[in-house]
Amino acid sequence: MQSEAVSHPNIALIKYWGNRDNELRIPANGSISMTLGGLENRMTVQFDAKFETDTLMINGKSAAPPMLERASRHLDLMRRQAGIDAGARVESVTNIPLGAGIASSAAAYAALTLAAASALGLELDQRALSRIARRGSASAARSIYGGFVELIAGDGDHSSFAKQIVPADHWQIIDLIVLVDEDIKHTGSTSGHALAASSPLQQSRIVDAPRRLKVCLKAILDRDFESLAQIVERDSDMMHAIMMTSEPPLHFWNGDTLQIMAVVRDLRAQGVSVCYTVDAGPNVHCLCLPGSEADALQALTDAGKRPWRVLRGHPGPAARVV
Ligand code: DP6
Repeated sequence: MQSEAVSHPNIALIKYWGNRDNELRIPANGSISMTLGGLENRMTVQFDAKFETDTLMINGKSAAPPMLERASRHLDLMRRQAGIDAGARVESVTNIPLGAGIASSAAAYAALTLAAASALGLELDQRALSRIARRGSASAARSIYGGFVELIAGDGDHSSFAKQIVPADHWQIIDLIVLVDEDIKHTGSTSGHALAASSPLQQSRIVDAPRRLKVCLKAILDRDFESLAQIVERDSDMMHAIMMTSEPPLHFWNGDTLQIMAVVRDLRAQGVSVCYTVDAGPNVHCLCLPGSEADALQALTDAGKRPWRVLRGHPGPAARVV
């Protein structure tokens, strides 16, 4: 009983922060993302009654115990569904920096869900897979699909799933991911989500979310970059405002993050089609149209006091069994 799956991370254009239910990972608000081809997680899962415990290797090394426990709990969901209690040998190979706020867990849990479900012979459609992936890492629900994807927040497990808005070939947007810091972030998303409700600003961010989702959806459907840029930057800033005002506060930006945000704003004022968005870490995703990529990359390279590594993503395909 062995299967291999490949999946891609995603960048949230409208982000969720905070859960309605932490245990089931039901997000407090809906979100929209772009699945990122160019970066991937390749996951092999093998179940065998001979394996007494689960094992997890990431890029050839044994994973830290908390990572293994989280993956095991996720596998339990599918083992229960299949009525099997065999141990699993899991191997992940990825070119995504881990725990640096570049959605490594989204790609990992999308691939783990798909590979495990396939190895166990569970016949699940994409919606069902996205609901299971959500319980591993909520943003993973979106990586089940390719292109531009919405995660519906819902009020329970059944109503909280992802769906595709448009496929990858609808709009070519390039994501230049500027890595200002590749270390594991000080606070993981899971602990961060649990603090969101302590910010007095969280409620108004949630109340305004349907409006931001609508603006973003229209910008994607119309391929209207300027509207997309404005709503994406505002949404990212709003999420960081929650982080900075939660108790205790979380400050993910550093000086380089702020510098890149300023460079991007200046570029756009000069007519370069680029905007920024920042997840739970200091690294900056600079989204641009293909015609603006060279200018954006040049300006970002010139701005760095030291050379920043830049990863490149583009609209990518759904998670798939290989
Ligand atoms: C800032 O989905 O990584 O990237 O469920 O705890 O793994 P867990 O959280 P995760 O949180 C993502 C937060 C975000 C915004 C987003 O992707 O919508």
